[in-house]
Amino acid sequence: MSALLSLRDVWVEYGDRIILEKVDLDVEAGSFVSVVGPSGAGKSTFLRVILGQEAPTRGKITLDGAPLAPECGPDRGVVFQRYSVFPHLSAVQNVAFGLECAQAPVLARLFGAARKQALAEAAAMLEAVGLGHSLDLYPAQMSGGMQQRLAIAQALIKRPRILLLDEPFGALDPGIRADMHALITQLWRQYDLTIVMVTHDIREAFTLGTRVLALDKRRHDPHAPHRYGATAVYDLPLVKPAPVDEPLEEAAA
Ligand SMILES: Nc1ncnc2c1ncn2[C@@H]1O[C@H](COP(=O)(O)OP(=O)(O)O)[C@@H](O)[C@H]1O
Ligand SMILES: [Mg+2]
Repeated sequence: MSALLSLRDVWVEYGDRIILEKVDLDVEAGSFVSVVGPSGAGKSTFLRVILGQEAPTRGKITLDGAPLAPECGPDRGVVFQRYSVFPHLSAVQNVAFGLECAQAPVLARLFGAARKQALAEAAAMLEAVGLGHSLDLYPAQMSGGMQQRLAIAQALIKRPRILLLDEPFGALDPGIRADMHALITQLWRQYDLTIVMVTHDIREAFTLGTRVLALDKRRHDPHAPHRYGATAVYDLPLVKPAPVDEPLEEAAA
């Protein structure tokens, strides 16, 4: 079986600073890859490269066997720890904006029936992430957990095949984080997503992931800290029990 996403000998360098070195990785469709590693290791850089926001200095990345498009296409969605949503747009406008960008890339604005359709789709997606009653709220009127639900809806509205999450729950309280874990697990199954999630919470990495990838330097040069970059030092496939749907639906309610 060929992988959905493949990285071959991928390097990222900023001048003489090596951030990532020789990253080789195959991600199967439907997997949930948790990425852990020390602060500054290059985890966010790794996500930006998969997102196509940044080109690797060397190496090759393919999505479904084809070279990665040089910008964030609709096949990849992303959620950051904070500030993923637009403060001047309501929840439903935030989510519809994703569709407007995809369908009207120059103006990022749809009119008439197309706009009505986009707003209806956005409302349905907000329902799916548990924000069905908050369509007209602005981000400033929402809790951190609600804002992250909104950011997830905004990423999912384009129906990406790969969802990239950069410490998406790191700023949330533990109770809220547990709700978000139930939500993301449910959405992962419901939308047949492939997820790559960076987290500094090792327990979260093992609870949610089907695979845990540790990015770190293999070698250190104390006199030249940027001489070596990070790579996948551990790559652990996890054996998970078959999904049980009932408790998840309860948790998401
Ligand atoms: N645009 C950039 N130019 C120069 N250095 C950068 C740039 N972006 C990130 N870095 C450096 O790359 C390293 C990895 O950063 P990052 O990927 O954000 O790490 P992590 O997400 O694991 O904490 C850090 O040392 C950071 O300072
Ligand atoms: Mg980071």
